Amino acid sequence: MGINILTLCYLIASVTFIVGLKMLSNPASARRGNLLAAFGMGIAIVGTIFLYTNHETGEHLGNYPWIFGGLLIGGIVGTLAAKKVKMTAMPEMVSMFNGMGGACAALISVVEFNHLAKELSAGTISADAIQPTVLIIVLGLIIGSVSFAGSMIAWGKLNGTVKDFSFTGQNILNLIILAVTLGAGAYLVVDPTQSFLLYTILALALVYGVFFVMPIGGADMPVVISLLNSFTGVAAACGGFLYDNKVMLTGGILVGAAGTLLTILMCKAMNRSLQNVLIGSFGGNRAGTASGSGEQGHYKEISLSDAAMLMSFANKVMVVPGYGLAVAQAQHACHELEKILGEKGVEFKYAIHPVAGRMPGHMNVLLAEADVSYEKLLEMEDANDEFKTCDVVLVLGANDVVNPAAKIDAASPIYGMPILEVESAKTVIVNKRSMKPGYAGIENGLFFQPKTSMLFGDAKKVLQDLCAEVKSV
Ligand code: TAP
Repeated sequence: MGINILTLCYLIASVTFIVGLKMLSNPASARRGNLLAAFGMGIAIVGTIFLYTNHETGEHLGNYPWIFGGLLIGGIVGTLAAKKVKMTAMPEMVSMFNGMGGACAALISVVEFNHLAKELSAGTISADAIQPTVLIIVLGLIIGSVSFAGSMIAWGKLNGTVKDFSFTGQNILNLIILAVTLGAGAYLVVDPTQSFLLYTILALALVYGVFFVMPIGGADMPVVISLLNSFTGVAAACGGFLYDNKVMLTGGILVGAAGTLLTILMCKAMNRSLQNVLIGSFGGNRAGTASGSGEQGHYKEISLSDAAMLMSFANKVMVVPGYGLAVAQAQHACHELEKILGEKGVEFKYAIHPVAGRMPGHMNVLLAEADVSYEKLLEMEDANDEFKTCDVVLVLGANDVVNPAAKIDAASPIYGMPILEVESAKTVIVNKRSMKPGYAGIENGLFFQPKTSMLFGDAKKVLQDLCAEVKSV
């Protein structure tokens, strides 16, 4: 009976994962989707702790002090980290948590292999009989370890403690390490009595994870994290096979599939192949290298009062939010400007580029935090159709996503990336603090166009001052 209720718990959990994931695809339902999936995970965890019984002995899990101790520590650390994390540091946190998932999968493999090795040496099972299980164990160990080590390096790169590092022939060395790791894994599957190989594989996979992520540029970390996330999903699915646990299997497969899709979508939005991300070095040097187009002429500045005047008498204003808006935490001030201009009869919308900011959906989450209505957010294709009907486009802390070099400069590292074509509006006002480049490290010709004016300053301060000015117009 107990096992039946547990199966039902797993079924409910699996359904909540799938429905929750679906709800995450829409900003209006994302929060509820997250809660729903977390609730399902809660059911699966509580069900496993109290209802699981060993097929042969009929014993419950036991080890309650360890389990609840772990839950308590993990729960506290997770809650504090999630509450404290800044929006702009979210990719770092995702990377760290993802690494923990990979480490768990690898540890499961180590523990389960040692159980089998004991039985093997006691003669209670034969090497032939355990080969399929060892295959799953080895896969979980390799994928989980690569994901753990790679995620830790990605985390270090994002918070600045790990610098990009590469040397000639590194890709070849990486391939050799991978081949040796897989070879050792295959040998262990064929002959599970060679238990020393388990730790050799673990060490090699960790080294491979480090070397795999080390040379990849900082700007590409979100893509790498998404890829490693899919690895962790696959490693968790291996755990599901190992324990014949349906919910672990479903969860792992969903994470693996979602991570893979997200990786592909991010590459598409940047018009880069995954291969180019993994062995290219776009954004590796973020210190401001030019694309070769050099200084592009003169730019002009606009005063706050002129900008306020332009917007107050406009019919339609479109905001392009970017990473700088997130850094300045200017989303509330931006929503305030929307309300004030709305009261003056100005139509106000937001143009959202799929890779604006530093993580997928960054701008949507940011604006949702300030209660901006979802109907006001336009996706790139729709925004590009509407720019020509805009009197003013206000670019707030965005740079690469409005850089026309992506369309016209074949030598540019962002060439081919779809962009928000703001220059088709009547006037463009760009707010940033200086003429420094954005993440791709290249100059932006938009800033030098006759219809563009620069409004320098921190986005939050500028928006607050703009609100005051617009009120007084
Ligand atoms: P960026 O090109 O990085 O430009 C952001 C601009 O904000 C900078 O030029 C900076 O100029 C300005 N800024 C910084 N702090 C500011 C502040 N307090 N107030 C006002 N402005 C401020 O951002 P974007 O246009 O959003 O493009 C995103 C980039 O990240 C793309 O290259 C994209 O490929 C990359 N990327 C994104 C993702 C995802 S999934 N979103 C994943 C991987 C890579 P100043 O320093 O002069 O102020």
